[in-house]
Amino acid sequence: MTLETDDIQGLLIRGYGRLDGACYVPMQFTEARRTQQWLHALLPLITPASQSPEDQAVHLALTAEGFRQLGIPAEAVATFSRQFKEGMTEAHRQFVLGDVAQNAPTHWQWGGPGREPHAVLMLFARDQAALEALLAEQKTQWEAAGIVALSRLDTHKLPNFREHFGFNDSISQPIIRGLSKAEETPAWNTLAPGEFILGYPNQYDLFPDTPHVALAADPDGVLPDVPPETPPRPPAKDLGRNGSYLVFRQMSQDVPAFWQYLKAHSQEPGATPEAAAIGLGAKMVGRWPSGAPLTKTPDQDDPALAQDNDFLYWNDDFHGLKCPGGAHIRRSNPRDWLLTERSAQDSQEMVQKHRLLRRGRTYGPPLAPSMDPLDLMQAAPDGQERGIHFICFVSDIVRQFEFVQNAWIRFHKFGGAYDDSDPLVGTHYQEEGVVTDSFTVPARPFRRRYKQLPQFTHMQGGAYFFLPGLRALRYLATFPLR
Ligand code: HEM
Repeated sequence: MTLETDDIQGLLIRGYGRLDGACYVPMQFTEARRTQQWLHALLPLITPASQSPEDQAVHLALTAEGFRQLGIPAEAVATFSRQFKEGMTEAHRQFVLGDVAQNAPTHWQWGGPGREPHAVLMLFARDQAALEALLAEQKTQWEAAGIVALSRLDTHKLPNFREHFGFNDSISQPIIRGLSKAEETPAWNTLAPGEFILGYPNQYDLFPDTPHVALAADPDGVLPDVPPETPPRPPAKDLGRNGSYLVFRQMSQDVPAFWQYLKAHSQEPGATPEAAAIGLGAKMVGRWPSGAPLTKTPDQDDPALAQDNDFLYWNDDFHGLKCPGGAHIRRSNPRDWLLTERSAQDSQEMVQKHRLLRRGRTYGPPLAPSMDPLDLMQAAPDGQERGIHFICFVSDIVRQFEFVQNAWIRFHKFGGAYDDSDPLVGTHYQEEGVVTDSFTVPARPFRRRYKQLPQFTHMQGGAYFFLPGLRALRYLATFPLR
């Protein structure tokens, strides 16, 4: 099935690696009619996936409250998924995601009580000067429409695709079947488009549920029909086609705490303290700083393998002796491992239903400009905030993002562990007999247990958005307000 790339917003297909400048503006609308006019003027700037821009890209996603504020009928908003409508900060969901205590939305810079966005405007430009010009122009437009920016979330690229702890974070992505690269990639990593884009079959060979409006609510026929293959419902117009749910989580990273912990707990006979610290960090990530996977090179970094993503776990590393089962990349994508009493094939099919298309970028200054772990571990704490604007696209928030976050990243018994959660991004605590702040490294003759891991990342903001297709945006900009 051919992807309608003229109607899909380009961020779903590419991460704009060559557009160095980027910033996200979470915003609140104040008046439906002026917001509609603003959206109408913005439409020609929105970048479709059929273009590969050299200069700039502009994208817009909305929250459920954003659709309501725009005046979309309540019965249409009701057709979005429950998780989206309730939002990231709903009380039960805070527990599911681990957004409690220090990570609770009441502590967030945006997205928490009173600061919930209605939309996020995402701007990309070839350099910082071009970004400033684009932003200034856009600011004039949104202010004229009475729109209030909640924050300006700048992103900065770090050398060698590193994230702030010093590891390459540009490697593993699911490939969408129907895009050209799919033929070159292994079957385990080639996913049905409906896993990430609404309007196409998913891994179950079903069309994902799609938000829709009644025929009468689209008198000019701007929207396509809901696919006939979707569950029986009265004929309706498809508001979701070529769109995707966008999960946004701003997470700060405590880089000094990370490297101090590694240095203090990683003595290895025959290794320098620095090499031992990097070795333990690599066990936590599942890749070396260059990006080389431990499954392929367990004992030392090998920059020649920096972009290597062609590995599985069942045959090569069933017991996690190379890449621990609890490492960040093995928890967030166990590939063909996990249903250990079943088979690699069963595991692979299960894991394929919980994949995320990531589009995150880092923010804040590097602790050491080189981003070399040797420099990062020597650098003194500077009190600056830095971290990741974690962004991922899914067609089903609960089956994909929330499942990965809750059952894999947070779960303290994941893969046969006892007291562990994800060493990088899990919530580490000891409470009422539950311990989640350990990290286990399988080894022979004895496994190693690292205890009392501090919290290395903290939530600073977030929300569930929907990134509509271009026709749906045009509908939002033109549908008759009551
Ligand atoms: C501060 C926060 C985070 C940091 C520093 C971080 C860091 C990393 C690094 C270094 C990699 C390896 C590079 C790659 O495979 O592309 C990676 C991969 C990955 N991360 Fe994260 N991450 C963070 C948050 C998250 C969160 C919140 C999730 C999901 C809920 C997540 C899901 C993934 C996935 C799915 C992969 C790819 C795994 C694979 O396919 O092998 N990450 N991350």
